[in-house]
Order: sequence, then structure tokens, then C-alpha cells
Amino acid sequence: MSLNFMSSCSIDLFLTDSHRTEQLGYILGQHLPAGSLILLQGELGAGKTTLIQGLGKSLGITEPISSPTFTLVNEYTEGRLPLYHLDLYRLEKEQVSTICPEIYWEGEEVVPGITAIEWSERLTYKSDRYLEINLVHNAKRGRQATLNLLGKHDLNLDFLLCLASTTVD
Ligand SMILES: Nc1ncnc2c1ncn2[C@@H]1O[C@H](COP(=O)(O)OP(=O)(O)O)[C@@H](O)[C@H]1O
Ligand SMILES: [Mg+2]
Repeated sequence: MSLNFMSSCSIDLFLTDSHRTEQLGYILGQHLPAGSLILLQGELGAGKTTLIQGLGKSLGITEPISSPTFTLVNEYTEGRLPLYHLDLYRLEKEQVSTICPEIYWEGEEVVPGITAIEWSERLTYKSDRYLEINLVHNAKRGRQATLNLLGKHDLNLDFLLCLASTTVD
């Protein structure tokens, strides 16, 4: 995995195989606080669910995690923090508000946890702070992931520096 830092809150990295994608999710799960919102973008097969599987593992979720393509939302509550996994693939933009995705990141009607949304480009309303992750196929290096931390956060993405020790270039 190789990293290019563009600023403290924006990182590009290459995920050479699915284990690396999972590892990225795992490390995010170790560092992100309750209330975090992860917006995942990338075509079918880009690795969005794989990343969330790693995230779930690091939260201590043992239940298998798969894309909630038909159920739209899966809630996992057995881990250190709840994981709310949404997949908007089957929804048109105008249908998205009907599932009230904001209840998950606002954490008032549900226990605050980590909300991870696949096909998040279909959201019509977003939180004012979130981590955006864009996954793109890369012919030579598996996937390219671009992470952007937007809005006010108590953290930056420096904790991903530890991934540099596993650099494969
Ligand atoms: N970095 C990677 N390099 C190669 N294959 C990957 C990588 N990350 C994930 N994959 C594989 O891509 C396939 C699709 O992944 P998935 O997470 O289901 O994608 P999505 O949820 O974006 O549709 C899986 O077989 C997964 O193992
Ligand atoms: Mg998926």
C-alpha cells in the first residue's frame, strides 16, 4: 500500500488486494469516534463492502456483513460501537429521504455509532462533517482510495500513517 499526503485531511492510497481494503476499514474502526459518518463512493465491485467488513471486525462485530442492497439498512449492535450500514444503490435520489438516513448520523433516535453509506452520492442531505472515501479500480494496483475528511473533526487522518509500514508499491 502506498500513501500520498495532499494535506492533513486528504489522503490517496493504493490498496493492492482485498486484504488491504479490509485493513483500511479495520484501522478506521479503531480510530473513528461515535457519531462518525463515512460516505463511500465507487462503482459496483470497487470494494465498499469489503472496507466496511474490516470496519465491522475492528468494532468486534462477528456477524457476517454484506451489502444491504435490498434491506437498505443493516444495524449491527454487538460491537464496541453500533455500526449502521446503508446501501442506496436501489434508490433514486428522490426516494432516499424516505428512509431518513440522517437518524443514523445524528444519533438522537439511535445509539450514536459509525454510519457507513454505500452509493452515498445519492444522498440529498448530508451531515456537515464526514469522511468521504472514493474507491476506483486501478489496473496495476488493485484500487485507488481517496479519503477526504470534511468539516470540523477532533481528528485528522494521520493515524493512517501506520499503513505506510505495509507499503507495497
Ligand atoms: N483492493 C482490492 N484489490 C482487488 N480486489 C479487491 C480489492 N478490494 C476489494 N476487492 C474485491 O472486489 C470485489 C468486490 O468488492 P465489494 O466490497 O463487494 O465491492 P462493492 O461493495 O463496492 O460493490 C470482492 O471480490 C473483493 O474481494
Ligand atoms: Mg457493496
